[in-house]
Amino acid sequence: MRSSTSDISGKRKASGSNDLFEKCRAFTRPSELQAAGLYMYFEVFGERDGCAPGEVRLGKRKVMMFGSNDYLDLINHPKVKEAAIQAIRKYGSGCSGSRLLNGTLDMHVKLEAELAAFVHKQAAIIFGTGFQANYAALSALTEKGDVMICDHNLHASLVEGALRSPARTMRFRHNDMEHFERCLENCPPDEKIFIVSEGVFSMEGDIADLEGITKLAKPYGARVYVDEAHGIGVLGPTGAGAAEHLGLLDDMDIVMGTFSKSLASVGGFVASERDVIDYLKHTARPFVFSASLPPASVAAVGAALHVMKQEPERRLHLLRTAQLLRDELGSRGFRVLPGETAIVPVVIEDELALCRLCKALLAEGIYINPVLRPAAAQNLLRISCTAAHTEKHVDRLVTTLVRVAGALGIER
Ligand SMILES: Cc1ncc(COP(=O)(O)O)c(C=O)c1O
Repeated sequence: MRSSTSDISGKRKASGSNDLFEKCRAFTRPSELQAAGLYMYFEVFGERDGCAPGEVRLGKRKVMMFGSNDYLDLINHPKVKEAAIQAIRKYGSGCSGSRLLNGTLDMHVKLEAELAAFVHKQAAIIFGTGFQANYAALSALTEKGDVMICDHNLHASLVEGALRSPARTMRFRHNDMEHFERCLENCPPDEKIFIVSEGVFSMEGDIADLEGITKLAKPYGARVYVDEAHGIGVLGPTGAGAAEHLGLLDDMDIVMGTFSKSLASVGGFVASERDVIDYLKHTARPFVFSASLPPASVAAVGAALHVMKQEPERRLHLLRTAQLLRDELGSRGFRVLPGETAIVPVVIEDELALCRLCKALLAEGIYINPVLRPAAAQNLLRISCTAAHTEKHVDRLVTTLVRVAGALGIER
């Protein structure tokens, strides 16, 4: 029970136990980890000038970056940077308004058309972040009486969208088509079904069984939404993602992507039939009530898309590097999750051991993200490869990992 006190006039007086901030003061987990030298978050990186490909600056040191989602190594590409600089020169630093009102520029409209064509859809809508795109689309497109059937391992932005939605939600075990079919069978005939999956799962790096999903979904008239945040730039003959890789791009009813990974910027998009996109443009609250993406970010995406199309060798090199890393780690007894994408996750069961490992790797000049439950089903050393990495980088990473894991007594 809350203990609030009031004085004789009936006014509430502050007391230790009714302060909203109390939970913040009691939240000591980060400071405990800091004191133990195991805190891995909010490392502060410096400018990239003078760094070799695959490197970033951390204080006075340069470290190898194996935690970035800049899969095609385009953040520092001269054409991408120049496009952003020119956009600021021509349009200024922001739009100061929602797309619906004063915030639409010709470059937004052009990019939306390019993105729609890229993923074989009639139209697209751009959001301020990928998170917003998922949250907005899932919550705006569903109503009471609909049902959302989701893979169990969805990204937080999709989960938030589902939570915000008035639709009923069912989750099937990760990539388990038998369980998925049972969920479909459980839907009453009058419920409208919306199926949500990632193309490439962000933590595990595996590819969704989109073939199973579409085959089972079709007889139910269900609509399929695929989040290609980690597929775009990495998979498919043109880099359009997992659905393209599987020959199923045209079977996806809605394709979502972010700009914060292969597209070297920030923002996100959703592409589908024109009517669906027009509906979102007028009803998705995070779109209607939020300022539009600034010119530099939009121009960077346009340039990154162009480079992606012109230089497919980046994608192929990235995939070869990731496969080499998977093979090398596997042959040394590490528990690498199987896959064929840029994400190479290594299972390290013990949470403390994982934090220690990441700290020790950083001391050796290698940055890798630790992923702790519940962000993934298992604790993972989530190595992410980019087109900047070479065989030499892989060799250094593997040699260091073997030595450091051995020194820490980490089980493989
Ligand atoms: C699968 C997936 N969807 C959506 C997002 C959100 O994208 P953004 O970082 O562009 O907001 C992420 C980001 O990590 C992601 O991994």
